[in-house]
Amino acid sequence: MTKPLKPSASGRPPAFVYSGKKLLCEAVPVAQLAKRFGTPLYVYSSSTIRDRYLTFDGAFKGSPHTVCYSVKANSNLSILKLLASMGSGFDIVSGGELERVLRVDKKAAHRVVFSGVGKTQEEIDLALKTGILMFNIESEGEAELLGARASKLKKHARVALRVNPDVFAETHPYISTGLHKHKFGIPIADARQIYRKLAKMRYLDVAGISVHIGSQITSVDPFNAAMERLVELAVNLRRDGHDIRYIDCGGGLGIHYHGEHTDFAQTAQRYALAVIKPLSGLGIHLLLEPGRAIIGPCGALITRVLYRKRNGDKNFLVVDAGMNDLIRPSLYSAYHEIVPVELSSRKRETVDVVGPICETGDFFARDRELPVVGSGDLVALLDAGAYGMSISSNYNTRGRAAEVMVSGKQTKLVRRRETFDDQVRTESVR
Ligand code: LLP
Repeated sequence: MTKPLKPSASGRPPAFVYSGKKLLCEAVPVAQLAKRFGTPLYVYSSSTIRDRYLTFDGAFKGSPHTVCYSVKANSNLSILKLLASMGSGFDIVSGGELERVLRVDKKAAHRVVFSGVGKTQEEIDLALKTGILMFNIESEGEAELLGARASKLKKHARVALRVNPDVFAETHPYISTGLHKHKFGIPIADARQIYRKLAKMRYLDVAGISVHIGSQITSVDPFNAAMERLVELAVNLRRDGHDIRYIDCGGGLGIHYHGEHTDFAQTAQRYALAVIKPLSGLGIHLLLEPGRAIIGPCGALITRVLYRKRNGDKNFLVVDAGMNDLIRPSLYSAYHEIVPVELSSRKRETVDVVGPICETGDFFARDRELPVVGSGDLVALLDAGAYGMSISSNYNTRGRAAEVMVSGKQTKLVRRRETFDDQVRTESVR
């Protein structure tokens, strides 16, 4: 019997399911992957990536749009390649992310939007030479530098101003971005005057407006509120003589980390409606920058229990993955469901699941009730596809995990485990 852990996106099987007592990724037992590739191990389901991308994209059918997957959520080259093959564009925030896109598909450069508050001259030059779709400008200083570099290189650049709509998005304070107190964007009230300056720069083509109000937002209302403010601005800007053809509404659509029963097709449609409705009749090309909503549920971090340990009245499971592999619980008090890779016991117990790193903050769960697992057993941290591997580090001189991509019965190693030599390659002993 195959029991889904999560409901499917548009009727397809979810990424991780139990078949009897064994956890599978698509048709492959996760225990087999751990044996073959070691732990900690990131495992991704390629059909879930495909399914979620197509579901999201399909929700905007009928409105001219480009989905620009947010590379920062998970920048593995094979994932980018899979998305590019379905026609996805990309939201990048660094020259490095642009290089990644170019590495997998040079033609996808024409579907790249470049966001970020601190673009350097080198990054701007690379993007100008590449001929990306849009620069999302975040300050007057950046506008001046971009204008100057574009004239110097004689490259035309389409630009949008990232405006800060002062909309409150109910999410963790570290991932909320749409209020005036945040460093992102330009206050919406100052926008018209800056657009006037942009229009005077010969090599800049004023083409759009962009916004991103935050991440892991599960209500669609803040997106709708932000779009209404943007539409008002677009109308005023057109009156001022600017040819506004694009609105980029950023990313931020949240996922359900607690294993709730939700249908992604419905969520995507609700989100699409909230975003599209204020745009009706404007003849706007919509740009979307989802990261987590596409890739989050497609991946799990597999880790092995090293030790069981009891301190006073607390039970600990010490696992071989640490905050360097997945920092979300430590950084945002984020919740990830933890499930055994083999269901061997019906008994449950309350435990802290912690890593090997020398920090009190190195934990994946506190006082969590889980099925009893023994030392040597494997557990999976679910919904770890977004902001897992991409924020991983070498803290405590730990090599970063391997990543595998499963497709039906097939498995591909899409990043090998980092060795000690990989880690010290750029250092020298003097
Ligand atoms: N566009 C821009 C301009 C962004 O800053 C971000 C995310 C996105 C798109 C994609 O947002 P998404 O659809 O993934 O929510 N590390 C945090 C999340 C940081 C988000 C940063 N910006 C976490 O693990 O929750």
